[in-house]
Amino acid sequence: MNETAGGQIDTVMQEARVFPPPPEFSAQARIKSLEEYRAIYDRAKRDPESFWAEFAREELHWFEPFTKVLEWNEPYANWFVGGKTNVSYNCLDRHLETARRHKAALVWEGEPGDQRTLTYAQLHREVCRFANVLKELGVGAGDRVSIYMPMVPELAIAMLACARIGAVHSVIFAGFSAEAIADRNHDAEAKLQITADGGWRRGKVLPLKATVDEALEKSPTVQKCIVLRRVGNEVSMKEGRDYWWHELMDQASADCPAEPLDSEHPLFILYTSGSTGKPKGIRHTTAGYNLYVKKTFEWVFDYRDEDLFWCTADCGWITGHSYIVYGPLSAGASVMMYEGAPNWPAEDRFWRIIEQYGVNTLYTAPTAIRAFIKWGDEHVEKHDLSSLRLLGTVGEGINPEAWMWYHEKIGGGRCPIVDTWWQTETGGIMMSPLPGATPTKPGSCTKPLPGILPRIVDAHGNDVPVNQGGWLVIAHPWPGMLRGIWGDDERYVEQYWSQVPRCYLTGDNARIDEDGYYWIMGRIDDVINVSGHRLSTIEVESALVSHEAVAEAAAVGRPDEIKGQAIAVFVVLKDAEPSDELRNELRQHVRKEIGALAQPDDIRFTNALPKTRSGKIMRRLLRDIASGKETVGDTSTLEDYTVLAKLRGDEE
Ligand code: WT7
Repeated sequence: MNETAGGQIDTVMQEARVFPPPPEFSAQARIKSLEEYRAIYDRAKRDPESFWAEFAREELHWFEPFTKVLEWNEPYANWFVGGKTNVSYNCLDRHLETARRHKAALVWEGEPGDQRTLTYAQLHREVCRFANVLKELGVGAGDRVSIYMPMVPELAIAMLACARIGAVHSVIFAGFSAEAIADRNHDAEAKLQITADGGWRRGKVLPLKATVDEALEKSPTVQKCIVLRRVGNEVSMKEGRDYWWHELMDQASADCPAEPLDSEHPLFILYTSGSTGKPKGIRHTTAGYNLYVKKTFEWVFDYRDEDLFWCTADCGWITGHSYIVYGPLSAGASVMMYEGAPNWPAEDRFWRIIEQYGVNTLYTAPTAIRAFIKWGDEHVEKHDLSSLRLLGTVGEGINPEAWMWYHEKIGGGRCPIVDTWWQTETGGIMMSPLPGATPTKPGSCTKPLPGILPRIVDAHGNDVPVNQGGWLVIAHPWPGMLRGIWGDDERYVEQYWSQVPRCYLTGDNARIDEDGYYWIMGRIDDVINVSGHRLSTIEVESALVSHEAVAEAAAVGRPDEIKGQAIAVFVVLKDAEPSDELRNELRQHVRKEIGALAQPDDIRFTNALPKTRSGKIMRRLLRDIASGKETVGDTSTLEDYTVLAKLRGDEE
């Protein structure tokens, strides 16, 4: 990170719309007003430890009570010291003596249209049996288990079974290559692999087992592999190493008490890409993570027992860990889970699911919302979406115009939107509106959740003034925080704790407006510096997206002799034809929206933007293309390689 990146950033965004929570919504909400939020926030701020301890005592099951709330040896935190609990117990067993026993836990639809529902009692039984299978194969507490599976209920079962016996899971998104699996297996020294024969994606079979076979050639620590039959494709099974899930389950007993585990027992490792090529294994542990995802799920999604909650992420990402599996299940929620693509067999698949199942809350990503906008409103209008009461987004900033579309077309103007800011590292949501309490502004993640103390600082660690961009840091430990990078303490300290004294460095830029609302301005490395003015990518992009012809845009800086950096933008059109006229119009439009300073120098039209597999725009690659660099850096996380080739081909 370079020193100059710590200066302030200028904001050019003008967004004045405010949407108060609908009174009918507030009347029934857990937190009903801004005053109520403030009271809770202030209480947590005054004494974070007793704030969290009270919830922990009431809302988690303790085999042994904790004796100390927080032990903080910066940058290492131990929460709920001395206690013993179990995440799988909190997600399952706790509900079995209640009215939730036969309530739907997972409501699942496969891509081909097959359906399954597992009640809490059924899910508990499957998890117990699979936990016994793991034990049979020699997996015990502390062993690492690598999971590479499609979005089927067995993925959640495998995660919960690991949690039940204290095995540490490392879920690898089923789109990654054999090489990526092998790297992660090697880093985690995984003992066991769990996979499926294949998975469905847009009507085609993803040959997961074949990919795993290749990965296991280079994963010497992995001794055994369990294979779920999902698709029925031909696979090779290696004698003595590979076992069919159903054969093992046939013999397995459903009696498997949850193992009492130390509060800080590792729960999972999840790899996320860093600025260097080597992925970081983010390490999360038991009690603090469990409490944090449960509380944030209840606060942010205002969960009620009769709701069907749908988070469209994959369990291969932190969003799936925290808000498909651990948060909702600890809260006793009914969770919708879908296996496939949003445009299979047609672009209305999500809206069809919402109508058919009566989904009440939809939590999805801006990249998906931009795709829906591009596909056209007719797919939405075919369906009755009146069951929805709340919408959420995560993963990137949402452009205000995309927010407005989501609000009107999907939410029918009546559903609050929670724009949730957080990271793999934070474990759970850190900043978000509370839907019954916080007036929303399109494009802002609004305010921190109780117990979270963010600051915005310059390179010297001083707070920057209102509406001045700076580094977003967190000033006090919270229960859901990462506990380290697997096997790399040095990198943990270096990356997150060495820039700003006594603060966790998020790596994002942000500003606070005059109402105390937070606006994320993008990653620190993505700032564009034009004639000494430091601009944020999202602001330029949002101005472009507010033009009716534009579906999606990415802004990057490229070297310029006079201005330092010039602004290059890549634009995906809805259905307009690219032309010089449109190019001029877009320049004028940005000039009008935010000023001459931010007017793009280069505008390139493209059919698609290079994205990570989790849907984030890879601005780093676009920077290389915009500055005419031949070689581009690491592309292993790129979702669609052809996009890059096309962009380069478009060049002269
Ligand atoms: C980075 C974390 C958190 C689960 C999915 C992503 C960006 C995330 C928002 C938001 C603006 C956001 C940040 C953050 N980000 N949510 N609501 N507004 N930016 O997890 O892959 O660890 O990425 O995503 O840049 O640092 P992740």
